[in-house]
Order: sequence, then C-alpha cells, then structure tokens
Amino acid sequence: HTHTSTPLCVWSLLSHSLSTGELIRADTRLLSLLGCRRFQSSVVNYSTLLLEEDMGLLYVGARGAVFALNATDISDSTARTIEWEASEEQKQQCLSKGKDDKTECYNHIRFLQRFNSTHLYMCGTHAFQPLCAYIDEESFKVSSEFEEGREKCPYGPATGYTGLIVDQQMYTASQYEFQCSPDIRRNDPYPMVRTEEAPTRWFHEADFVGSALVRESEGSTTGDDDKIYYFFTEKSQEQTSYYSHIRVARVGRVCKGDRGGLLTLQKRWTSFLKATLVCSLPEYNLHFNVLRSIYTLPGHTPHDTLFYGVFSPEWKNVKISAVCRFSLSEVQRVFDGPYMENQDSGAEGSEYTGKVPDPRPGSCITDQLRSRGINSSTSLPDDMLNFVRRHPLMSQQVMSTEQRPLLFRRTTDYTQLVAHRVEGLDGQNYHLLFMGTDDGWLHRAVEVKGHLHIIEELQLFDQPQRVDSLVISHTQMSVYVGSPSGVVQLPLSTCNRYNSCYDCIFSRDPYCGWDGQDCLDITAQTDRSNLTQDVLYGNRGCDNEPVQHRSRSVMVVDDVLLQCEISSNLATPVWTLDGSELQGYGLESGFRVGTDGLLVIESQPEQSGEYTCHALENGVRVAVVKYSVTVRLDIAATFCPSPSPPTSELLSPRSMEAMYLSLITILGGLCLVLTVVLLYLGFCLRGSHRGKYSLRAAAAAAASANHTDRKRKHRKQQQKRNGDTHKGGFLQIVPREGQPSPNKDPPPPAPPLPPPPQTPHNPLNQSECDLQDFPSPNGLSATLPSVLRRMHGNSYMLLRQSEAESSSPLCRSFTEELNTILEKRKHTQLLPKPNESSL
Ligand SMILES: *[C@@H]1O[C@H](CO)[C@@H](O)[C@H](O)[C@H]1NC(C)=O
Ligand SMILES: *[C@@H]1O[C@H](CO)[C@@H](O)[C@H](O)[C@H]1NC(C)=O
Ligand SMILES: *[C@@H]1O[C@H](CO)[C@@H](O)[C@H](O)[C@H]1NC(C)=O
Ligand SMILES: *[C@@H]1O[C@H](CO)[C@@H](O)[C@H](O)[C@H]1NC(C)=O
Repeated sequence: HTHTSTPLCVWSLLSHSLSTGELIRADTRLLSLLGCRRFQSSVVNYSTLLLEEDMGLLYVGARGAVFALNATDISDSTARTIEWEASEEQKQQCLSKGKDDKTECYNHIRFLQRFNSTHLYMCGTHAFQPLCAYIDEESFKVSSEFEEGREKCPYGPATGYTGLIVDQQMYTASQYEFQCSPDIRRNDPYPMVRTEEAPTRWFHEADFVGSALVRESEGSTTGDDDKIYYFFTEKSQEQTSYYSHIRVARVGRVCKGDRGGLLTLQKRWTSFLKATLVCSLPEYNLHFNVLRSIYTLPGHTPHDTLFYGVFSPEWKNVKISAVCRFSLSEVQRVFDGPYMENQDSGAEGSEYTGKVPDPRPGSCITDQLRSRGINSSTSLPDDMLNFVRRHPLMSQQVMSTEQRPLLFRRTTDYTQLVAHRVEGLDGQNYHLLFMGTDDGWLHRAVEVKGHLHIIEELQLFDQPQRVDSLVISHTQMSVYVGSPSGVVQLPLSTCNRYNSCYDCIFSRDPYCGWDGQDCLDITAQTDRSNLTQDVLYGNRGCDNEPVQHRSRSVMVVDDVLLQCEISSNLATPVWTLDGSELQGYGLESGFRVGTDGLLVIESQPEQSGEYTCHALENGVRVAVVKYSVTVRLDIAATFCPSPSPPTSELLSPRSMEAMYLSLITILGGLCLVLTVVLLYLGFCLRGSHRGKYSLRAAAAAAASANHTDRKRKHRKQQQKRNGDTHKGGFLQIVPREGQPSPNKDPPPPAPPLPPPPQTPHNPLNQSECDLQDFPSPNGLSATLPSVLRRMHGNSYMLLRQSEAESSSPLCRSFTEELNTILEKRKHTQLLPKPNESSL
C-alpha cells in the first residue's frame, strides 16, 4: 500500500508569503504539527551524522561547522556550534592547485566519532589539506591542536571514504592523496598498518562506501579475533565468460589484532582478504555491481549480523536500484573457501588449486595458533604471508540471501539506507528499512519473506537533492536525514495517516495497528489485545466497511462512465455486475476499465443492474462504490452539434416531430455553412493540423496528471519503450505493456477496422474528426468514437461518426477530450500494476 504522500514538510507551503526569518519559525511550528522537524543554518553539506542515544544528542558535521543538536527536537534553539572553516590563505592555496572553489576549497567534515568517554574526534578536508582534532564534549569546543590528517581523511568532499574508531584506534579506508592508490589503514596508535601495493595490488581504484566492526571474539569458542569489514566497489581484475564487468562490488576484512608481519608484510595487513558481493537477477542478465551504501544490522549474536546494501548497475545513465542482503555467515563461508589464482600468474579469474600453506593464509590469531606458539601476526611464517600477499581475493562469491534482490526499482537512485528491527503484534521481528534517494525522497519499507514492501514514499525537500546520510534513533523513535541543505527529523512511523481499517492493514507497517477506530502506533499502546495488524499478508482483520451508493440512468447506446477513485497505488480495480465479475474489459465486451472508473460503451438494456467497484489489493476485494445503472430504451438523439441534453421526454410525440423537423432543417443549414467555412479553413491549414493535433492531445494528457501520476506515467512510458524496443537482455523483465494482469482475462483481439466514413467530399472531416489512425500502442481499438458531448459531470454521450455528418468545430475539442480520456484509460486498463518488489 504505497502511499505517495504529498510533501510532508515542505517549505514552499509558506515561502511565498513570509520573509526568511519568519519562514523558519513558522515552518518549525507547522512541521512540529506534522511530526517533522528541520535544522538548517547558513552553512551547507550536512553530510556527517553522529547520534549519541544516551546523551540525546545528534552531532552534525557540515561544511565549515560542527553542530550539537537536541535529538528530541533538532529544530530547538539549544543547538551548539563549532565553526571551523579553512583560512583564506588555505583556500587560495587550494585554488592555486586548480581545485574547484565551489566545493573542494572548503573544509568538509568527513569524520566525526566518539573517541573516549569525554572526547569526540573529527577530521575535515580543510581545503585540500586534511586536519583532525579532538572535541571536548562537555564544552563543545576543539580541545587540542589541529593534527595532520593526511593519513586519516581524504582530500576531497566526494572521495569514497569510510572510518571507524575501535578501542581508540582509527581505521579508515579511502583513496587518500590524489595519486595514491586506495588503502585501508589503522592509524593510531603506532605501529600503523596499511595495504600492500606490490607485487600484488590489493585494490584497483576502490571506492569505499562503508565499514563495520563485528565483535566475533565475543562468545567465540575458538578464541577468534574481532574483525573489521569493508565494503567497496573496485575495478574488476578477473575475467570470466559469465561475469565480465569493469566494476565489481566487494567485501574485505581485516582482523583487529593484526600488527603486520615481522619481515614479510611488515606494517601491512596479514589478515586482509576480499570477496565479490553478488546482487543480481541472473535469469535476466541483470547485475548490480556498483555498491552505493551499506548498513550493518547487528543480530542477537555477532554471527547473526546482516548487511543490507543498495546497488546499482554500472551504466550511469540508467536509474535503477536494487537492495540486497548478505549474511555474515555467508561472508565467512567464502573467506574460509578457496582462493583466487594470483593476478600475475597468467591464469587470473580461475581458482587456485595448488597447495595452501598452513596456518591458513589470512586467518586471525586464534587459540589453535596460540597453542602453536603464534601469539601475534608478527610470528606468522613467511610462506603463509607470501601466499596471502599474492592471493587476497577469494574464488567463491558472496551470494545475497534469497539469491536475488529484496527490492528492485526502476527510476529510483537510492543513495543511503538504514535498517532496524521492529517487533510486530504477532511477536515476529520485522526489518524496517529507510532508503534515501538522490532527489530527496525517503522510502520506508518492510521486509517480508525475502521481499521489500514499500510502505511509504515521502518527499523531504522542495528542491531535489541527494540524501547524504541517514541515522535511526530507537529512543527518540526518529530517523534523521542529512542533505546538502539541512537535516530533517522524521518519526519512525505515522500511523494516523491511515484513516480506514483497510488502509492501516494494507500498509503492512509493523508499527501500526487498527483498534476499530484509528490506526495507532502499537509501541505507544499498553493494551494491545484489541489491535489488528497483518504485516505478513497485509489483508486480514478488517470487516467490510459501508459503501457509497449512487444511481445512473442512461439511454440505450449511450456511453456511461462510472467513477471509482482508488487511493492506493497498489490496488487494481475490479468491477462486478450484480455480483459477478465483469469478464473481458476489451472493446467487444462493451466495457472499459481505468484507474478512475468503468466506461460502459454503447450501453444495452441487459447492462442494467448493480455495478460495484472493488479495490483489489493483496488478494482482498474491498468494495469502494456501488452504482445502480438503468439503461432506458429511448431513441438516442442523432443530430450534429447538439448543445443541450435531449429534452425529448418533456414533449409530446407530435410536437416533437415538428420540432425535430425544424431543428434538423436549421441545423442542417448551419452544418452546411460551417462545412463550407471549415472546408475552406481546412484546405488552407490542413498540412499543419495533424501534427499539432496529436501533440496537443499528448500535452493535455500529460498536464492532467498530478505529480504521483506523472511518476507512474513516466515509468509506464519507460516500460513501453523498453518493451517495444529492446526484446533481449535485461529489459525483458519489464512487464510488457499490453500484457494482461494475472487476475484478468487476456484482452480480446483488436476488432476489424470499420470502413472509412463516407465523406470523400469533406477532407476537413477526415483530418479533424477521424481518429482512426490515431497511434494506438496496443494495436487495440482503432474505433474511437469521434464526437463527444458532455451530458453531466460523470458520464459522456457519444455520437458516432456515421450518425453525424459532423463538421462543427466543436467536434474537435470534444474528440480530443474523449480521446485523451480513452487513451489514458487504455493504458491503465492494460498495464498490470508494476509491483517491482515482486520481481
Ligand atoms: C554541497 O552543497 C552544495 C549546495 O547545496 C551542493 O551543490 C554540493 O553538491 C554539495 N557538495 C557535496 C560534496 O555534497
Ligand atoms: C532536548 O529537548 C527536550 C524537550 O524538547 C528536553 O527535555 C531535553 O532536556 C533536551 N535535551 C538536551 C540534551 O538539551
Ligand atoms: C580522552 O581523550 C582525550 C584526548 O586524547 C584526553 O585528553 C582525555 O583525557 C581522554 N579522556 C579520558 C576519560 O580518558
Ligand atoms: C604466547 O603467550 C603465552 C601466554 O600469554 C606465553 O606463555 C608464550 O610464551 C607466548 N609465546 C610467544 C612465542 O611469545
């Protein structure tokens, strides 16, 4: 039940009427009302967030400043600031190095973490000369001299970088200086340990996105060491027929106790190993090999740790994202498996099958090694170190859980994700994910049986901008979003947004439950016995709710539109007539279904009855509206431009006859005059009409869609393009437009084209009103009615071309209108709702 909420906390609501100062104040009030808070100051690039749950503080590293915000309400006035910008002198030097003065020649805070119980540690790019310093937490002031940061912090704001402080030692990974190769380093205290570059390079243009400490020593029966895992994308060195990519996503790891070798691998990691992360849909040849973001979800024990990653394909011009999950046990299995052949052996890309030295290369110091007198990595034998130096890559690949993405999404670029566990009413633990996009949206999703179900899509900013960082707070029940323009704080759930039982249940939000009246946050309820929730299936627990009742009366052969607005983006409309489902919605059946309603074409008396519109979602049919339709056997009016609804009922047959005769005479004359005029006009303008016409219709269709629709439409257009133009490769997974959705019968074949209208004397008629050659993407429906007259709000009366020698200029605009509506409807009717997560 994807709710695409209209801007939840958008500034533009107020920005027309208020000056800047007022804007912030008024905005805050408005947002606190909506449960969303913002922090913004004169600086930009709020890219580094550090949450201190215990202290109730959110530290924010931005460009030229660090802030300490109250995590309960980041917009409150108690925010403290450390200003730290590079000096003008430093900026000049940076400029003279040819760097970009808009972004690079500033001090971007790239690192901000707790050092010990009283101090934080931070590093900034400092206009291309990185520096680091301690912050005294209590006074919130820089408490030390600035230290050289070259070994700890990258030079630029956009360089891939990850860093951790573990037991007061700093572990960072980045491509530090411009010419340097990428590196994983432990900096403090000495001895510093880093990555080997020769004879085998351990990284190839690696772009680091994240790192995680897993305390595997805790509860270990083998005396195992803690490990630090690194996640990155690098240039692929191996080439196999199946897998030939330029870039590849990897996980690497080092042991915390690693001190380097004594002679071989001196001051180099002895425990570094790396393996490929696979996030792909092999059956569609779709490989997501660029890692964008990683989140480590701790388990009950360190071995239950899970890694959630956002991936994208290599091509930069396509917006596609996938979310994959990896288990630590699978990563460990691969690190315990065979090694890849050495890159300079000439057999790269194949598994190493020779003898593996003992102790196993790349292993941490365990009890077994200690019992052999090896207490430290400096005591490891040379043959083992030589092997690991040349064979850092594992042969097997780390497969994602379920061997496939949990979510796959077109037209979305996720930049960040975070996950956490929520206990649902059924006592099960669900994983709730927040994913930020490159254009300032936040998607909230729940993982159910290996699929991600998107609960909500929220627009966070009025100006599209990438989400740079995300942090979840359990104590504050908030999620914090860092972006170029500011920080936003949102509640973890907003159950009261759902105002019916079905909305609440369909949302599948593990935080929300229906109590018979409202959708409530279950964590705030002490008595949960009367709450209903169904995360697993998203369809159980609601009684039928009262349904709107309407009636319609139409004349035989008229068309009637029965409106039915379905609020959920994931629901499909299903119509029943007197209780039985309408079969075959094609033209021959006399019905057309769209997202906005059902069109009964050329209604017949047997089509009278009770129509019910249901929203079908998750296998549940919820009645939305009922119509009692009566088709009357009156004779339909057949004259040309009839400006008013027929009034025949009010008149006696005799006077009617006379009236008809005179009317027909008058109108016939009018038609003749207009025909002549338009013939003349058409003769002069004919050349340009066709092109303009279809353009305008398209524009009208586009303009009538709202924001959400537009997104959807865009997706559909894309699908259509994909479906039509690329039949092979990955694009096959896109549901073809015109494919029937599973719960409907296939649409009937296109009816034969009717003979062209008998109007050879009237070229204008042909060019303006004859829509038979209007482009029809489905090959369906070449017989669009050509004249339309609006009778009242909801229904349309149609006059066929053959019935009316219509040459009135009126016919064009109405035709366009109907055509737009029908075109739209055709699309919506035939397109199965793309449920991407089910791919
Ligand atoms: C910093 O913010 C500015 C303005 O919002 C933006 O144009 C720029 O891309 C941001 N830089 C980084 C590194 O995020
Ligand atoms: C944060 O604000 C809340 C009220 O909004 C207050 O109770 C709390 O003491 C504040 N915390 C800090 C660290 O200032
Ligand atoms: C934390 O580290 C800082 C900087 O090294 C030091 O001055 C301070 O005394 C340390 N605090 C504690 C409690 O060890
Ligand atoms: C390793 O440590 C054990 C106990 O800590 C000690 O008895 C032994 O001598 C050490 N071995 C070496 C080679 O340092």
